[in-house]
Parts: sequence; C-alpha cells; structure tokens
Amino acid sequence: MPDRLLEGKIALVTGAGRGIGAAHARRLAAYGAKVVVNDTGVAIDGSATEETPADEVVAAIIDGGSEAVTDGHDISTMDGGAAAVQKAIETWGRIDIVVNNAGIGRPKMVFNLEEADWDDVIRVHLKGTFAVSREACRFWRSEGKAGREGYGRIVNTATGLLHMGGAGQSNYVAAKAGNAAFTAAIAQEMEQYGVTANAIMPGARTRMANVGWRTAAIAERPESQGWDAQSPDHVAELVCYLASPAADWISGQCFQVSGSRIDHTLTWLPRAELRKDHEGWTAPELVKAMPKFFAGPRPNELPPKEWAEARKAAQAAGDSFAG
Ligand SMILES: NC(=O)c1ccc[n+]([C@@H]2O[C@H](COP(=O)([O-])OP(=O)(O)OC[C@H]3O[C@@H](n4cnc5c(N)ncnc54)[C@H](O)[C@@H]3O)[C@@H](O)[C@H]2O)c1
Repeated sequence: MPDRLLEGKIALVTGAGRGIGAAHARRLAAYGAKVVVNDTGVAIDGSATEETPADEVVAAIIDGGSEAVTDGHDISTMDGGAAAVQKAIETWGRIDIVVNNAGIGRPKMVFNLEEADWDDVIRVHLKGTFAVSREACRFWRSEGKAGREGYGRIVNTATGLLHMGGAGQSNYVAAKAGNAAFTAAIAQEMEQYGVTANAIMPGARTRMANVGWRTAAIAERPESQGWDAQSPDHVAELVCYLASPAADWISGQCFQVSGSRIDHTLTWLPRAELRKDHEGWTAPELVKAMPKFFAGPRPNELPPKEWAEARKAAQAAGDSFAG
C-alpha cells in the first residue's frame, strides 16, 4: 500500500479514460483520492466513437478498493467543463484537485490547416482547461469567502514540443502554450485561496505521442533495462505529488516529465539580454548585436540547470550577453 498522500481528497481528471489521464486517475486513487474519471471516448482527432473507456478505468479503481465515478461531459464547452466539476461536488461534496489532461490532435502544416482543425484543437486543450478551471476556482473562492480553509490543486497539461518549435503542430502548440501561460496567471490569482496551479509537459507511450512527428519515436521505443521508462505512471507520480498537501509551496511552475527525468522548465523567462544605458537600440546596431543572442548553447540543448550554469560562467568571464 503506498503512502496515503491524498487520503480523502476529491479529484477530477479530464480525458481519464485512456493514456496519461487514466494513469493519473489510477495513481490518484492509489494514494487515497476519490476520482471523477471524465472522458467522452472520442477518437484521437476528436471524432465520436462508441467507446466508453472511462467505465473500465472506474471499474479497475473500484476493484482496487478505491472510489471513482465516470463523467461523460465534453469539457471543451463551458457547460461541460462546469458539469464535470459539479459531478465531483454532487458526489462527494467538494472538489480538491483538477487535472486538465483531455486532448485531441490534428497535425497538419499551417498551409493545410482548416479553420475547424484550429478551432477544435484550441477548444479542447485551451478552452477546456479554462472551462474546468473556472468552475473549480469559483468553488474554491466561495469556500474561502465562507471562511473555510482552502485547498485546491490544478495541474494543466502543456507539451515539450514547445521547446522544439512544433512544426506540423501549430494549432496544438498554440493551445499548449496558452495552457502554460494560463497556468501561471491563475496561480497568482488563486494564491489567496490556498490554491496552486502548475503545468506539466508529459512524455509517455500513449495515443497522443503518435500525433507529433518528433514524439513518434517515444511511442515505438520498447521497454528497456527491466523497467518501462515510457509508462504514463511516471508522469502520474509527479501529478500526484503536485496535487498533494506537500506541494503547497509550488505554484505557477512548469515541469517536463518522462520516465525517470523531471525538468523544471523556464519557458517564459528571457535567456539572454541586450542592454544599453538610457537609449534604445537602432536597427543597424541590432544587425551587429543580435547574433549574441544565439552564441553558445540554446536552452533546449542543455538541461535547465546546466544552461543556467553555462550562462553564469559566460557572464562571469566577461562574455556578457549585453551589447
Ligand atoms: N503522450 C505524450 O507523450 C504527450 C506528450 C505531450 C503532451 N501530451 C498531452 O497529454 C494529454 C494526454 O495524452 P494521451 O496521449 O494520454 O492522450 P489519449 O488520446 O490517450 O487520451 C486523451 C483522452 O481525452 C479524451 N478527450 C478528448 N477530448 C475530450 C473532451 N472534449 N472531453 C473529455 N474527454 C476528451 C479522449 O477520449 C481520450 O480518452 C493530452 O493533453 C496530450 O496533449 C501527451
């Protein structure tokens, strides 16, 4: 029996019928949470199917001695997102943890991308994250206003493709970058109510790994060295930690996680500077100065810590990024 890190907590995981979301639901339950397993059972491109994968996840959790219920709302609508949160409140009286994970993919080059490909992907990933989060945040705010001690955890899902540019995935990375920025903003807004919000960039051998051409290799990689480095369970463990009381000091952050590797990513921070005193840069000056931005290793070529150290060392040596 694992530590009951999440004993009695009430969680909602969207898109939890399959893949990484199913792992989140199973692991949250294993640590003592009661889980709403939300999933519409759609195909990878978002088209309807007859499948009801959430039922199997719920059955497995109940078999394991924990509590779970299914929810079939489409979280990409405001009503559906709210209803998924309300399912938790109606069933167990409150909500403590929201994991926004549901996703679809329509990878195409920008010149082939139809309006619906753009709208549908942005709607499921970005609007869905907003729809669910808003309802949960309304609940947590009302709890705070009623004088009850607050507890809330949001974990949103971004993608490591943001580190690579995301060719063929402009709709998807636009939505996922939106999720990362949204997370940082609501982390600040909700701090006063005891709520944290963090984002993850997962990597695992699940259905969406096949959507990006850069991640296809992940899906094909076999198990190695006696452990399954591409199991979604490794992603879920970080999510369980972020959802727990122990992570009350971490908010507005983004973590890339796959196998045994967890990176703290600093997607939105400047990595190099051009500075002058009391005057701006002219375009001809930038012709000379701009290449300094690209001297040395780029952030996505080194782990963040090594990048920070390399940059510090370069600055200490007088090879500053300033003009
Ligand atoms: N697999 C990876 O390596 C990887 C990498 C980066 C990001 N991600 C992200 O992780 C998340 C999960 O990926 P996965 O590979 O496990 O996906 P998956 O396709 O296996 O599961 C996603 C689930 O979301 C459900 N869903 C889709 N639209 C929904 C909606 N509107 N309402 C409710 N449910 C809906 C689907 O039915 C599906 O069961 C996605 O957000 C994905 O973008 C995955």
